[in-house]
Amino acid sequence: MIFDWPTRMQQMADFMGFSEEDLELVRASGPILLDRADELTSAVYDHFLQFPQTARFFLTLEGEIDQTRLDRRKHSLARWLRHSIDFQLDEQFPVFLLAMGVVHSNPSLERGYLGSVPARFMIGTMSFAQTAFANILLEEMSDPVQALRTSSAWNKLLMLQLDVLLAGYVTETPTPATEPPAPDVDEPDAEPQGMRRVLTNILDGNRANGNADGHSE
Ligand code: HEM
Repeated sequence: MIFDWPTRMQQMADFMGFSEEDLELVRASGPILLDRADELTSAVYDHFLQFPQTARFFLTLEGEIDQTRLDRRKHSLARWLRHSIDFQLDEQFPVFLLAMGVVHSNPSLERGYLGSVPARFMIGTMSFAQTAFANILLEEMSDPVQALRTSSAWNKLLMLQLDVLLAGYVTETPTPATEPPAPDVDEPDAEPQGMRRVLTNILDGNRANGNADGHSE
């Protein structure tokens, strides 16, 4: 795992092909998205309120919508949008993202009874944001090709962020890499190890039970 976060983000940016041109497209779209920031943040929270698994983070103990909490969160989301438009790959941005990830994965004492925001909803929210941004860009930009390019740039940027946000959840299996096997050990018949051995045993068991495809029943 890489813990030098700016380096990791740069590596992922290169891998995704997030270029200077993408960065310019994101910045240029800033005024369009900021103009509709209220609508965007409201759409995200209206969406959360439609599903019990996400709504519960914004309800009082009596089950009512906690408007104060909701308004505070809308402000946080608008702040995140502004930060994203001003995105630059420096030392600060990954720290902002990591802190944001940890806030969601590790509930504060005040909302400890709610537990973590499940990581899958962080992924789902990014997907929701990608779609919402794309729709707004398509509506507001006169050139649909430019809107598509801008939307692709945002998609990359949001996935780049999601990687670091989820690091606050420690989603990677902490299995360190080992030395590659010496050539004489790398035989096709060598016994599989670890999880691979478990899977191989299950498949072998299924085959022995007459299921040629290796599916478990
Ligand atoms: C792309 C996904 C998301 C982004 C960018 C985002 C953004 C933020 C930001 C910027 C904050 C303020 C952090 C701070 O205090 O500095 C925050 C807090 C919070 N968010 Fe999110 N959020 C996301 C997804 C979610 C989801 C899916 C939920 C739950 C359904 C959620 C619930 C909360 C709650 C409860 C807090 C308050 C945490 C606390 O102060 O204890 N967020 N969010």
